[in-house]
Amino acid sequence: MACIYPSLSSAPEELYPYLLDQIKALIQPEDDWVANAANAAAAIGFIAKDLNWAGFYLLNAESLVLGPFWGKPAVTRIAMGSGVCGLSAQSKKTIVVPDVHQFPGHISCDLYSNSEIVLPLIQNDTLIGVLDIDSPELNRFNEIDQMYFEKIAAYLSKSIKWPVK
Ligand code: SME
Repeated sequence: MACIYPSLSSAPEELYPYLLDQIKALIQPEDDWVANAANAAAAIGFIAKDLNWAGFYLLNAESLVLGPFWGKPAVTRIAMGSGVCGLSAQSKKTIVVPDVHQFPGHISCDLYSNSEIVLPLIQNDTLIGVLDIDSPELNRFNEIDQMYFEKIAAYLSKSIKWPVK
């Protein structure tokens, strides 16, 4: 089992490839989607800087249902089109929210969250759910963070055996 350490560098071009390598090392030997999604969420939360929540909401019928995550307990069901997660799922697009307090319809799970990025998980053109990442910092996610998290979301979409419902 790979041991996870924090990144030695906070430079995005070193930290994010390190994070992706750690996620690959955790996921490749394992087949179970819960184990892999749980470890991916924990690796993102532990290795990336200034986060307070990282986890998955998976499409189940017409709702997004809470999956494995790192952070405080969170809302369990989000309707398609609701909140940042529901809008990202509906549009199948990444949504970056620099200040969640200014985002109409934002669903608050942690009073300390100030910014958020939500990335759709898509496998063979089918929406699986979203990867949701929150930060206590305002404006935590810039274009470089978005690019690297999109690479991570693409890897997770294709590499985990998601339960497609
Ligand atoms: N903020 C999200 C809800 C999930 S929590 O952040 C974990 C949203 O507006 O969809």
